[in-house]
Amino acid sequence: MTTHAGKERADRSWAAFAVLVPKLAVFAALLLFALAVAAFVFAAPARSQGESGARYTGVASCAGSTCHGRMEGDGTVVRQDELMKWQEPSTPGGAHSRAWAVLSNNRSQFIARNLGIGDPAKAQMCLGCHSTAGTARAVPAEDGVGCESCHGPAGAWLASHYAGVGTNADPDREMRAKHLANLSAGLKKLEDPVVRAGVCVDCHFGSAADGQFVTHRIMAAGHPRISFELDLFSSLQAHHQEDADYGWRKFGAAGRRTDHVQMWAVGQATAIERSLALFQTRRGTEGMFPEFYFLDCHSCHRRIFDQAKPVRTGLDNPGRNLPEGMPAYNDENLIMLAAAARLAAPALADQLAARTAAFHKAMATDRASAVAAAAQLSQTVAALKSAFASRSFSGADAFAMVDAISAKAISERYTDYSGSQQAVMGVDTLLNAMVSSGRVTVGAAAGIRSDIDRAYASVKDPNAYKPSEFQASFGSAVRAIGALR
Ligand code: HEC
Ligand code: HEC
Ligand code: HEC
Ligand code: HEC
Repeated sequence: MTTHAGKERADRSWAAFAVLVPKLAVFAALLLFALAVAAFVFAAPARSQGESGARYTGVASCAGSTCHGRMEGDGTVVRQDELMKWQEPSTPGGAHSRAWAVLSNNRSQFIARNLGIGDPAKAQMCLGCHSTAGTARAVPAEDGVGCESCHGPAGAWLASHYAGVGTNADPDREMRAKHLANLSAGLKKLEDPVVRAGVCVDCHFGSAADGQFVTHRIMAAGHPRISFELDLFSSLQAHHQEDADYGWRKFGAAGRRTDHVQMWAVGQATAIERSLALFQTRRGTEGMFPEFYFLDCHSCHRRIFDQAKPVRTGLDNPGRNLPEGMPAYNDENLIMLAAAARLAAPALADQLAARTAAFHKAMATDRASAVAAAAQLSQTVAALKSAFASRSFSGADAFAMVDAISAKAISERYTDYSGSQQAVMGVDTLLNAMVSSGRVTVGAAAGIRSDIDRAYASVKDPNAYKPSEFQASFGSAVRAIGALR
């Protein structure tokens, strides 16, 4: 599968395999333990409290062989091999089960040495994202990012969720009713793009919670860059199938499927909303400096040419109203949002453009002005998010969205690595949306895979990124998609 950063991913699978060996032993034990635990858990006293007082029960409580711990996914309602998928070796789908184990690998040791934080596997600075969130470590850290990190603490719904599955003559209706009951008992409504995006960006961007933020200092110590696109990353880690009963259970409409264009658009809005929100808090500064994590990395990390014939390493960017010589905000999601707004919420598009420009400009004034402008821009972003969340997108919209992302006014803003990477992930997601909505066949999409792969290749290595080469390969990917119309 092609991803946002193929090279890194290939390297990583080796590291992941190394840490998986002990992990497998842990899970063999967990599986044996699971049935006993399942019985115990239902009667267990509160073992850990989340922020809202909800109780976490740990991965073992989901892993029963009649629950989500089956070896093969042929369950009548859900696959039931979710545990196996969650810990699948050498795939991005298994990344969350390994999230704690990677804190003991060489890269983590290197990061920890640079930061002087001792054992990273015990450091809150890392555990906030590399273990089950919000648990004050009352579930085993070895769980990594466990089921409840995303599905919500199960204390209040595990028993009712488990009880009586498959006893009713109308299983679809029964499962829908149970799902609604579970939701009101605290199961997260992950089929809802707004809810899902909020859950993922806690770790795939950062949050105000303790230990859920990668500062520039952590990046400089050796942490990988965090890139994220909600729909693409959802499919990379998916352990479920959208069959007929899924639509009924989740949306109350048989056969209804996830709207991938909507998922993408809501993901863009959520990511920048989170970024702007944190920028306004004390996370927005570090010492006497702004927190560099919020900025475009490559506006600082460049070569200097001090010679008779000066060389400009920056490119003009009409979306950034900034004087030359100042670092820009990371606007990767703002660019995508500008494209989505033109198509899906035109009434807000001009406001978005004006407030984006005002925000960039305010950054050259002082922090108070930048914070005020961020607050304004946030309001527009929030309005866009609800506009996207309350409409649906067709296969034709997906084509129009590719046009919007590649339109001149948008593509002249791809002057930096992150924005360009986001654009490639965007067209990849939109192509997949065309396939899942039936507008494009699987075969036709496979036929232009090499064009998409070339666009990915041009954003693989940040140091080798060249805007003009990116524009060329991105242009051919977009033309190849256009030809499928
Ligand atoms: C805001 C959440 C967050 C925090 C805090 C965080 N990480 Fe990460 N970390 C991530 C995410 C997300 C990835 C995956 C990045 C990607 O692939 O896009 C990751 C990836 C990594 C990787 C590469 C994983 C691999 O498979 O080799 C290492 C190593 C790592 N983190 C170590 C650390 C250490 C050590 C700390 C504490 C100093 C830390 N992280 C803090 C979110 C976080
Ligand atoms: C990184 C977040 C994340 C983690 C960790 C995670 N899931 Fe999921 N899971 C999702 C998302 C997103 C979906 C798709 C949306 C939905 O159907 O809820 C999903 C879907 C499912 C479904 C299908 C639901 C349905 O009604 O069809 C099951 C079952 C499931 N997960 C079980 C588990 C189990 C068991 C674990 C732990 C072994 C786990 N998940 C870990 C995010 C996660
Ligand atoms: C509690 C923190 C946390 C949450 C919540 C979370 N993730 Fe992750 N995710 C991580 C960490 C940490 C890694 C890196 C682990 C590693 O490399 O071993 C990761 C890795 C991944 C990867 C693999 C990336 C790669 O480059 O191989 C995907 C895909 C992913 N997450 C998707 C999601 C999605 C989709 C959601 C929301 C439904 C989500 N995650 C929620 C912490 C989290
Ligand atoms: C405002 C300027 C600025 C921005 C923006 C910025 N950095 Fe840095 N970066 C620095 C400075 C200054 C150092 C410290 C160099 C030193 O310690 O000698 C540094 C160091 C680093 C290092 C350590 C490398 C080395 O050679 O020591 C890494 C890695 C790094 N930054 C990554 C990033 C990433 C990733 C981003 C974007 C999320 C980013 N930087 C954004 C200014 C910046």
